[in-house]
Amino acid sequence: MKSNKLSLKNIHHVYGQERQAGTEAIRHIDLEVRDGELLAIVGASGCGKSTLLNIMCGMIEPTGGEVKIDGERISSGSHRIGYISQTDTLLPWRKIDSNVALGLELEGISKRERLERARQMMALSGLKGFEKMYPHELSGGMRKRAVIIRALIQNPDIIFMDEPFGPLDVFTREALQKEILKMWGERKNTIVYITHDIAEAITLADRIVLLSRRPSVIKNEYIVDLERPRVIEECKYNPKFLQLEKQIWNDIKDELCDADME
Ligand SMILES: Nc1ncnc2c1ncn2[C@@H]1O[C@H](COP(=O)(O)OP(=O)(O)OP(=O)(O)O)[C@@H](O)[C@H]1O
Ligand SMILES: [Mg+2]
Repeated sequence: MKSNKLSLKNIHHVYGQERQAGTEAIRHIDLEVRDGELLAIVGASGCGKSTLLNIMCGMIEPTGGEVKIDGERISSGSHRIGYISQTDTLLPWRKIDSNVALGLELEGISKRERLERARQMMALSGLKGFEKMYPHELSGGMRKRAVIIRALIQNPDIIFMDEPFGPLDVFTREALQKEILKMWGERKNTIVYITHDIAEAITLADRIVLLSRRPSVIKNEYIVDLERPRVIEECKYNPKFLQLEKQIWNDIKDELCDADME
């Protein structure tokens, strides 16, 4: 049994609590994520998913509760964290290789080494030949791929991703999902990621957490009992997959209706 990588205790968050009517985004969340686990978080729009992810990676200090990575408070800053926000983009004035190598540059790694590592990562994710182009010269899916490998190049122990495949078409999504699964299979990082797409969560994750509507609590958790390595094109026809998809849709329905009416 693997140890816990990330631990959230009694998390509560209110935006603008100094004002009388602040927005209570998160009511109460306790969550443990195992070392090497791939955890997906799903929930209705506006329920607090991005808030929770930002709290997990230390970008937001919660108004209550505690976040620990490897047993240490996140505020210690000593963790290797990769983070892809919901709106992450590339820097338009930098070529793709130096965009991908940005984190290594901030770590102080020499130009030669960081560009070489960027070149290798780009080759692995189908971006070979585009190293010296600018972001506007790539397709939307290629740019997203570059954003993802920019987070992975530092080989973080734990990766937080907020709807990383959001605006992409189904073919690009599947290609990127395959890459994430391959990389995760090789490196065994811990991944926590948010998605609106229940089928995608089942395809990728070991476990899925469903958040209630705002102020969010954990409404349910599901273990994804599908064999690894998973073949993305095939696992969606597995009866276990279909059953779990139906169950999560049933559970999320009430949350969606209420959230939509707000
Ligand atoms: N910086 C902020 N200041 C004030 N309120 C905020 C802020 N960020 C988010 N909120 C509020 O907190 C609630 C949760 O927002 P959050 O972005 O976490 O939702 P989400 O589940 O990620 O939604 P989506 O699926 O649409 O991305 C919303 O009511 C939102 O208006
Ligand atoms: Mg969000």
